[in-house]
Amino acid sequence: MLEWEAALLAQYDGFAEQYNQLVKQGGPTGPEAAFRYIETQLGRLADVRGLAICDVGCGQGELSLRLSRSGADVTGVDLSSEQLAIARGESDRVRWVLDDAMELGTLPDEAFDFVVSSVMLMDVSDHAKVFRASHRILKPGGAMIWVIMHPCFQSPFSHPLGDGSRKVLDYREQFWKSGGTGTIRSTLGAYHRPLAMYINDFMGAGFALGRVDELDRLDTSVDVLPAHFAAIGFKLPK
Ligand SMILES: C[S@@+](CC[C@H](N)C(=O)[O-])C[C@H]1O[C@@H](n2cnc3c(N)ncnc32)[C@H](O)[C@@H]1O
Repeated sequence: MLEWEAALLAQYDGFAEQYNQLVKQGGPTGPEAAFRYIETQLGRLADVRGLAICDVGCGQGELSLRLSRSGADVTGVDLSSEQLAIARGESDRVRWVLDDAMELGTLPDEAFDFVVSSVMLMDVSDHAKVFRASHRILKPGGAMIWVIMHPCFQSPFSHPLGDGSRKVLDYREQFWKSGGTGTIRSTLGAYHRPLAMYINDFMGAGFALGRVDELDRLDTSVDVLPAHFAAIGFKLPK
């Protein structure tokens, strides 16, 4: 990781409590839809009791905790020590690890049945490296499930018109920061990438694409267009 990237990510520490509140509220602006999708799909694919799951970019740990309560053996990885401090305060049943998702250098090869990633790929400068690192730590036959903010309908370039529709003003790959001050996105920004890039790079990392989904909005008061995009891919058995 480049020095400026590490410095930028360290700033995520400053938002640990703000993000914790967002998750705890469980409302539509938080990651609840992503959590529900990942839990549902895991349940569809396997009985997770006793299975090894790595939650990449686990944040304050809510998803890891839920999976642990389902009986899985969970490792939560994040680069923000402040977020991990909140997670550690919640449970010692999960193994909390400070590491870079683009390397996962502290985790061994072929150790996990599942890798999950909830709304974090937009935060990393190289999502393909996360896919490759995740592929490395998966057992053959294992799967990765990831969810991102939908780059068409939940992006800085997509504006609701108030009649249930949206106008998309831009779609190119780019780094953006929202206006204002003091918020996560006005401070840290995010990477906007087209869907095709995510899917092609996922397959390029070695995953056999299992399915893709566009998740229903939890809050349909403004429009009903999907707010999240999700994909599942398998590491083929040897
Ligand atoms: C929007 S939060 C999502 C957290 C959690 N997955 C959730 O859904 O609530 C993005 C998280 O990714 C983490 N993150 C960003 N870049 C990372 C990297 N290179 N390695 C590990 N974690 C990273 C941030 O620290 C932050 O906790």
